[in-house]
Amino acid sequence: MNRRRRIYEGKAKILYEGPEPGTLVCHFKDDATAFNAKKHEIIDGKGVLNNRISEFIFTALNDLGIQTHFIKRLNMREQLIKEVEIIPLEVIVRNVAAGSIAKRLGIEEGTQLPRSVIEFCYKMDSLDDPMVSEEHITAFGWASPQEIDDIMALAIRINDFLCGMFRAVGIRLVDFKIECGRYFEGDTMRVILADEISPDSCRLWDINTNDKMDKDRFRRDMGGMIEAYQEVAKRLGIMIETTPERKGPGPVLVK
Ligand code: TMP
Ligand code: ASP
Repeated sequence: MNRRRRIYEGKAKILYEGPEPGTLVCHFKDDATAFNAKKHEIIDGKGVLNNRISEFIFTALNDLGIQTHFIKRLNMREQLIKEVEIIPLEVIVRNVAAGSIAKRLGIEEGTQLPRSVIEFCYKMDSLDDPMVSEEHITAFGWASPQEIDDIMALAIRINDFLCGMFRAVGIRLVDFKIECGRYFEGDTMRVILADEISPDSCRLWDINTNDKMDKDRFRRDMGGMIEAYQEVAKRLGIMIETTPERKGPGPVLVK
């Protein structure tokens, strides 16, 4: 059988060569990892949900004129994407204190930040993705000053859109992480959104109850991760074919 060439395998996704030059196929796995993969489990159906949720968000961003690598969804677990040169930064946008900023700065989780805050981490598993400043980024040549400006402008536009989108379905966008890439079109290069936006890469809290609807359920051993991701998909109006609701009470004992 003709197998596609595997270009890269990450913790939650695999990239294959695409059907045309300049394209790749991104496959969403069911693997859930945290703490730089020290914690690892297979969560049935997570890849399908993240593929659909990320498709939904990237399509909306493309429609708004915010360029992303997303071209189209191919099947339950795969999407066709534009090949980009990934900028080795995790760009975190925070609206509410949670996770590492709460620990680092001693702010109680759930505290609204005075304004949205952007942080950069250097993508390097062997160093546990350390937080870095713009000085580090330009000095070591990971991105130019102009690219940092472009990334920040992109991050702010995405945050504005996502806050409104989630708020409309009763979800508070606490924080999220994006990755950007350089997309080459002839002689021009543009910084566009790459990777994914899903409950793996966001903190999403129910507006009324503050219930966590994201990967913190896995990181913090709370259980109910897949149900939370399904609820996010359901509220966004995304239909998931592989996870039909079970009708009725299940098997019935025949006397
Ligand atoms: P943090 O509070 O642990 O720094 O996480 C901030 C946001 O970034 C949160 O929404 C989770 C997301 N994130 C990732 O997507 N990948 C990662 O490796 C980490 C550490 C965080
Ligand atoms: N993505 C990271 C890991 O795989 C950490 C995280 O999301 O918390 O370990």
